[in-house]
Amino acid sequence: MILRRSNFLNLAETQRQMEQSGLKERIDDFQMITQIYLLRRLALNEVGTKLENLDDEYSALHAHNPIHHMEERLKSPASLIEKMERKGYGVTIQAIEANIFDIAGIRVITNYIDDIHRVEDALISQDDITLLKRKDYVGKPKENGYRSLHLVVSVPVFLAEGSQKVPVEIQIRTIGMDMWASLEHKLRYKNHIDAEKAQTYAGELKDTARELNQIEARMQGIYHDLL
Ligand code: GTP
Ligand code: MG
Repeated sequence: MILRRSNFLNLAETQRQMEQSGLKERIDDFQMITQIYLLRRLALNEVGTKLENLDDEYSALHAHNPIHHMEERLKSPASLIEKMERKGYGVTIQAIEANIFDIAGIRVITNYIDDIHRVEDALISQDDITLLKRKDYVGKPKENGYRSLHLVVSVPVFLAEGSQKVPVEIQIRTIGMDMWASLEHKLRYKNHIDAEKAQTYAGELKDTARELNQIEARMQGIYHDLL
């Protein structure tokens, strides 16, 4: 067993070090960005626990786990800055708070297609969850074949000095959709693939997306029939 004792957000320690290193005038900015990351981390914990709980409850009541597994991540500061520039927001604390909802992200991989809406409904109906954004690429897949349900919700985070609602991005998709998205992501981000090959594979991937969806729908049908 590995005990991970990470305390990299230690503000007082960082402040001391910045002063020692002659970076005093940058402390405010650093503290604000650290505060944003801390809040998003805590919000991610809250949403992760809610999802685990609803999976446990569903399993107890219906002998079925809607969730196969989950993956969470915090957007790296490097990719946060890249996104701010790409979208033309300017890299300021205010712009991050107003525009960036995916610093905290959790991907929920479900067993079957109908589990996607099962998870969504159970989460969104909770009193303390507010739905801020919803993109349904399951009902309406993207042109390239991508299927996934994207939600941005806000959840209260309780701090020593009161509570705050903090945004978290949730991507919900089946095992098949997730497998597809991983491969398609490679195709898009591997720049060295030659153009002709990339085009051929893009077409093939579109076909595989449809086929995977048919297979997952059939397997869901068998599963329901066996209930
Ligand atoms: P960002 O501001 O770039 O995060 O995008 P958006 O708010 O316009 O995003 P959208 O909800 O469409 O996508 C959010 C995330 O979903 C992306 O950052 C990807 O991780 C994933 N995603 C969206 N479209 C695709 C796609 O076509 N293929 C794959 N593999 N992933 C996708
Ligand atoms: Mg994103």
